[in-house]
Amino acid sequence: MINNKNILITGCSSGIGYCVAHGLKDSGYRVFATARAQADVDRLNAEGFEAFQLDLTDSKSINQTVDQILALTNNHLDALFNNGAYGLPGAVEDLSRDALRVQFETNVFGWIELTNRIIPVMRKQDYGRIIMNSSVLGFAAMAYRGAYNASKFAIEGFTDTLRLELKDTPIQLSLIEPGPITSKFRQNAKKAFDQFIDAEHSLHKEQYKAMERRLNKPGPAAPFTLPPEAILKRVIHALESNNAKARYYVTVPTYLFGYLKRILTTSMLDKILHKAGGGGKR
Ligand SMILES: NC(=O)c1ccc[n+]([C@@H]2O[C@H](COP(=O)([O-])OP(=O)(O)OC[C@H]3O[C@@H](n4cnc5c(N)ncnc54)[C@H](OP(=O)(O)O)[C@@H]3O)[C@@H](O)[C@H]2O)c1
Repeated sequence: MINNKNILITGCSSGIGYCVAHGLKDSGYRVFATARAQADVDRLNAEGFEAFQLDLTDSKSINQTVDQILALTNNHLDALFNNGAYGLPGAVEDLSRDALRVQFETNVFGWIELTNRIIPVMRKQDYGRIIMNSSVLGFAAMAYRGAYNASKFAIEGFTDTLRLELKDTPIQLSLIEPGPITSKFRQNAKKAFDQFIDAEHSLHKEQYKAMERRLNKPGPAAPFTLPPEAILKRVIHALESNNAKARYYVTVPTYLFGYLKRILTTSMLDKILHKAGGGGKR
């Protein structure tokens, strides 16, 4: 099955990126699957992808990979799925400038740099779909997730702005806003936590113990967790509908907080978010 459309996806080593890459390949897309570790690139190649190394913290890696892919497609790229990212958990008081810098280099600056490399290609070919994998935490904040919340709020801001700036072009932008999805997200968040947060000397030491239990818990840690196929469905709509939606909610918590955010005052919403995010407890 071939549908003649191609797409570049970041963060295909696991979770949502891996699932969406396979799902689109199975639907006939030419998928350029990218990952930052060479071992993952080799594995993806062995699985039949045209796989490339792309580290979002590294401009050279972004540019080299885009050049390689465009050379293979005669400078044509129908779609971009910005997906590769991680969450750094920890209280805002415990976030160093370096920790924040790495979080934003990956989750924000890399995404915008890559997007800005692709937009001229899409303008030239008079067609393009750009899909940003944001989060429910891109519009509803939760305690101990400040760095990640801020990175996803930033992605929402950039995407809303870009949508206005590209309004008169045939390029459509969509945000996907998942709640809990099965992936390696918590495993990778734990690694970032261990690397950047000095839990032992923190005022939040007790809360971190509960948080670490949640991050280490095998299987789903939150109610209403969905498999990554739930995202694939929305990505396919954003790629194939004549009118891609600006926002795709995925999972019950996203619908719930989207609704509550519209009807509640900030102080009322804070009470619910405080409880939902573990508040002072994790
Ligand atoms: N799972 C959820 O509950 C959930 C909810 C809302 C939103 N999301 C969003 O979904 C997206 C995918 O996450 P996931 O849940 O599938 O988690 P995941 O299994 O941890 O996958 C994250 C992917 O991002 C890649 N990545 C991390 N840093 C990178 C870098 N510097 N350059 C390139 N790739 C990098 C990872 O590569 P490595 O293997 O090399 O680390 C991995 O391929 C993220 O944008 C996340 O914010 C997830």
